Amino acid sequence: MELPFEPFRIRVVEPIRPTTRAEREAAIRAAGYNPFLLPSEAVLIDLVTDSGVSALSVRQWSAMHGSDESFTGSRSFRRFEAAARELYGKRHVIPCHQGRAAEHLLCRAVLAPGQVVLGNTLFATTRANIEEQGGQAIDLPIRENADPTSLHPFKGDIDLDALGRRLAEAAAGSVAFVVLTLTDNSGGGQPASLANIRAAAELCRQHRVPLLLDAARIAENCYLIARREPEHHGRSPREVARDIFALADGVFMSMKKDALGNSGGVIALDDDGWAERIRIRLLVSEGIPSAGGLAGRDLECMAAALDEMLDEAHLAHRVAQVSRLGEQLAAAGVPVLQPFGGHAVYVDGRAFCPHLANEQLPAWSLTVALYVASGVRSWEVGNVLGGRKDPSSGGWRWPALDLLRLAVPRRVYTASHLDYVARSLVELHAGRHEIRGLRFVYRPPLLPQFIATFEPA
Ligand SMILES: Cc1ncc(COP(=O)(O)O)c(C=O)c1O
Repeated sequence: MELPFEPFRIRVVEPIRPTTRAEREAAIRAAGYNPFLLPSEAVLIDLVTDSGVSALSVRQWSAMHGSDESFTGSRSFRRFEAAARELYGKRHVIPCHQGRAAEHLLCRAVLAPGQVVLGNTLFATTRANIEEQGGQAIDLPIRENADPTSLHPFKGDIDLDALGRRLAEAAAGSVAFVVLTLTDNSGGGQPASLANIRAAAELCRQHRVPLLLDAARIAENCYLIARREPEHHGRSPREVARDIFALADGVFMSMKKDALGNSGGVIALDDDGWAERIRIRLLVSEGIPSAGGLAGRDLECMAAALDEMLDEAHLAHRVAQVSRLGEQLAAAGVPVLQPFGGHAVYVDGRAFCPHLANEQLPAWSLTVALYVASGVRSWEVGNVLGGRKDPSSGGWRWPALDLLRLAVPRRVYTASHLDYVARSLVELHAGRHEIRGLRFVYRPPLLPQFIATFEPA
């Protein structure tokens, strides 16, 4: 794919330093074979996440310099509130420090123990917050979502038959809400179509169950709708976004992904009762309702980004950058998930390392091997993140896909950086049978990917 040129000039740079293989071997051993625990200086190209790591724009920086840091009544909050109301079309705008804080507040405020939350593919922190509150999180993705060879353009769609059935069979009040995660980070960064979102909203309306959006990567989802869904060809991402938000009862959003922030999150909704309960929770754990634990400069940064994130040239370059990396890998026979989503390329760990059993954590072992070979840090969305102990058998239940994720930070890396990533992974693929498996040394009960440690199996 031809890459459009970067729609920006680079005015600030940060040096990166290559390391030797011996240094990387020592570093990953010291990190308990968990790339998340590596010091960032030991990393050459960091694709561990696209979250909180965007390069800020001149517009964001100048807004931040003009921020109002008053404890309360700050104009920075009012600016953010106005921008968020304009985009989401909801009356209540509640800032908080990041996406999982929004999930936590929401679950604490409106989810009762025993209630169910249905979704296309809930993100790990959403699931953890639901489960911690005594709720049950159920994913209802379409069948193609778990098929790495399917080229379905909207693998982030929810299975409408399954959703309709669950909603019809559920006792009144037992489903707390439905969440559409746009795009679906845990299923490959795949978008949902506007037709699917519309139909899901209609089902929720019929059954009087609120529909919420996890909008962390809504801009990429909207751009991909305008590219892939024939009825919406040629529409601007902003127009598509307005249509989507109008279908939902509420939105929660990490402002660290598409919204180009180093920190921040938000909840936007219309329901006065929910808003009141969330604000009370917010006061207990996050901060005052006009800040949510953020500085005025963070609110300014987010206000600017709500407009900037939907810029078509930015999205066209970003999505092309991700696709080009994926195409280079696919052309060399590396098993990648297709079609490519908005923020990351996902490599099928089980297909890459067929000599490793699930217990040997193929995709996780691959992230470690890639780091040692090249200094490129990636992350796993697979057996470590999604594996669960089966209480009846004592064995493991593994997720449908075991993936290595190459998440591309926004406006940070150039084409030659990503060419190096592709070359490194292609070389590793040639010698893949030498990749050694790993096993857990320490596995915490929740969100193991952040703090678990491992050793060679
Ligand atoms: C889809 C999705 N939802 C929620 C979150 C949580 O957001 P945060 O990292 O800001 O807490 C993430 C983070 O990666 C995510 O990808």
